[in-house]
Amino acid sequence: MERLLEVRNLCRRFGGLKAVENVSFSVKEGQIKAVIGPNGAGKTTLFNLVSGFLKPDSGTVLLDRLAVQDLPSYSIARKGMARTFQHMKLFPKMSTLENVMVGRHIHGRAGFVPSFFNLPWTWSEERRMRREALDLMTRLDIENLAETEATSLAYGQQRMVELCRALACSPRLLLLDEPAAGLNMRETAEMAKMISRIRDMGITVLLVEHDMSLVMNISDEVAVLCYGQKIADDVPLAVQKNPEVVRVYLGEENAQDS
Ligand SMILES: Nc1ncnc2c1ncn2[C@@H]1O[C@H](COP(=O)(O)OP(=O)(O)OP(=O)(O)O)[C@@H](O)[C@H]1O
Ligand SMILES: [Mg+2]
Repeated sequence: MERLLEVRNLCRRFGGLKAVENVSFSVKEGQIKAVIGPNGAGKTTLFNLVSGFLKPDSGTVLLDRLAVQDLPSYSIARKGMARTFQHMKLFPKMSTLENVMVGRHIHGRAGFVPSFFNLPWTWSEERRMRREALDLMTRLDIENLAETEATSLAYGQQRMVELCRALACSPRLLLLDEPAAGLNMRETAEMAKMISRIRDMGITVLLVEHDMSLVMNISDEVAVLCYGQKIADDVPLAVQKNPEVVRVYLGEENAQDS
């Protein structure tokens, strides 16, 4: 399998704090890869570096062999990387469909501002984007939410909409930062199914998540961060048995007992 994403020796400090220290890993095309680690381990910072929302102090991010670490985030998005955020950002006062359409606009020719103000030359493009966004919502079984104001939806549904909006960018690589955070057990199971379905659509997924059953059930590989450093990177079963990972998650004493 080809490596769709390759991260080499990535470093980022905040003042004296090494948030991401010399981290290297790769994601192969068609994989679901998870990044796990305790709170403050550097997972979101790593995502921000990979997706261009933060610049690294040093290191390389290769998307399909192209170095993207110096590109702005919108440019990386156009090259096929989309993401969701740990703290959800849906647009208020817009319908669910319109929120999803925002994702499609990165591929539009008319530009977001003329489209937003509904200028006449944008109308046919707007109709096409509306159709494409609705098609996507249908594929994810959420087309019944199309006309509802997005921020009035239940939290679990909002997370699905956010996912759908990221997919509307037609990404090759999708970055999900804690997609199951705040979801109940049933919603988490639905989210796991949805992520697997996205992979089956041919989209590669890189995922940060605290819900271990979700991570271990759907991931092909799992990388573990701790205090900014990668301490493990393997198939789920091997990561679960890795003594250093066990120590980080259960504490030194439990690891010695086991
Ligand atoms: N913009 C920032 N300025 C200063 N420090 C930051 C900034 N962003 C993150 N940090 C610090 O960097 C470290 C890593 O934070 P990060 O948010 O990447 O962790 P995380 O693994 O995503 O944690 P969580 O599981 O709680 O989401 C933390 O100590 C955090 O306080
Ligand atoms: Mg985080």
